[in-house]
Amino acid sequence: MLSFRRALIVAAAVLTLLFLLRSTHSDSKSKLVVPPSDSAGSQQSQKENAAPNPKANAAPAKATSAAKADKAIDRPIPKKQRPQIALEDLHTKPLRDQLEYQFPYDPQAKFPAYIWQTWKATPASGDFDEIFREPEASWTILHPTFVHEVITDSVAVHLMRHLYASVPDVLEAYNALPMPVVKADFFRYLILLARGGIYTDIDTSALKPATEWVPAEVPRSSYGLVIGIEADPDREDWHEWYSRRVQFCQWTIQAKPGHPVLREIVANITEETLKRKKAGKILKDYKGIVEYTGPAIWTDTVFNFFNDGRYFDMHASNGNITWRNFTGMTAAKKVGDVIVLPITSFSPGVRQMGAGEPDDPMAFVQHNFEGTWKPENERHIGE
Ligand SMILES: *[C@@H]1O[C@H](CO)[C@@H](O)[C@H](O)[C@H]1NC(C)=O
Ligand SMILES: *[C@@H]1O[C@H](CO)[C@@H](O)[C@H](O)[C@H]1NC(C)=O
Ligand SMILES: *[C@@H]1O[C@H](CO)[C@@H](O)[C@H](O)[C@H]1NC(C)=O
Repeated sequence: MLSFRRALIVAAAVLTLLFLLRSTHSDSKSKLVVPPSDSAGSQQSQKENAAPNPKANAAPAKATSAAKADKAIDRPIPKKQRPQIALEDLHTKPLRDQLEYQFPYDPQAKFPAYIWQTWKATPASGDFDEIFREPEASWTILHPTFVHEVITDSVAVHLMRHLYASVPDVLEAYNALPMPVVKADFFRYLILLARGGIYTDIDTSALKPATEWVPAEVPRSSYGLVIGIEADPDREDWHEWYSRRVQFCQWTIQAKPGHPVLREIVANITEETLKRKKAGKILKDYKGIVEYTGPAIWTDTVFNFFNDGRYFDMHASNGNITWRNFTGMTAAKKVGDVIVLPITSFSPGVRQMGAGEPDDPMAFVQHNFEGTWKPENERHIGE
């Protein structure tokens, strides 16, 4: 009886998702297929892309030695047994348990071949901003086998309602968030926790396929989250410019579904929002967003995970992991099941903090900073 009900619910959710995907795509490329894993053909495309450019040839060697050098900081995650909980009992469990049950993490699983973006309009619509056409297309061109979706705010509401139907606190929090920019922050964590893949802001361009972001020598079953450094300001007054001494960016994230960092940030924002809702004051001003749903809370959540005894054997480690472990890095670093990419990878061309240019072999994603925060997009932010 129970499993039959579960099956019905899952079937309904899948059908609705397919319907939503179809309805966001009147150009109907063949996107309704289950996405293949992104691992197929990665080696081949790596060779093809590396060959013509002597500079690119240097990349794997550099990254390889980095991956080797960083072996010492590997903190493997023990695979947890999934508890059986009756659906009726699930809502009485703590929020994090509910999330873990609904979206279990399997580090051995493949990275789902999804690319998720959000904007006011889809590329198929005439309202889609011309300035984003090329950046958006760059993701499809470099990831031809991925399912690539630009989700509008109104479709996101439906998608979340289906993905999180069984975790009502999350839905209540999502619906309570007042501004599209805060909702968009929350959306990226929610979609990656539930479905995995790549989330990337609409004002980013792909410079290299995701299959080449991490050196091929690092087994894909050994990591479940790929993040980049947004800022590493080596100056006295860094806090006047950034919230954290080393700040991780959340404009591009790759994850396997259920990753504990995503579970934690979703739980944190949910609880924080419900608390603020009760107090009748969800957000004071724009400045609070960075700490509430933006890069500051994202960075804190990642560091807390690195130093969490539930996931890592802290006795075997060499003290806490802090910003010092990431400052000035120029090659990928692996901590447990998280790959941290250097500032050049997702922030090339910022002309500071040691970032290389977009033609650097380690440059993977260009952030054009034309999205959410520009005055002409105020309509999307404000309201
Ligand atoms: C982090 O950096 C500290 C020095 O600041 C070092 O002692 C420690 O071994 C590093 N930890 C890891 C896991 O690399
Ligand atoms: C969310 O995380 C931040 C940073 O770790 C923490 O200060 C805050 O208390 C957390 N909020 C809740 C509701 O747990
Ligand atoms: C490591 O972090 C934990 C939790 O943040 C803290 O209680 C502990 O004192 C720290 N240890 C060191 C050696 O700094």
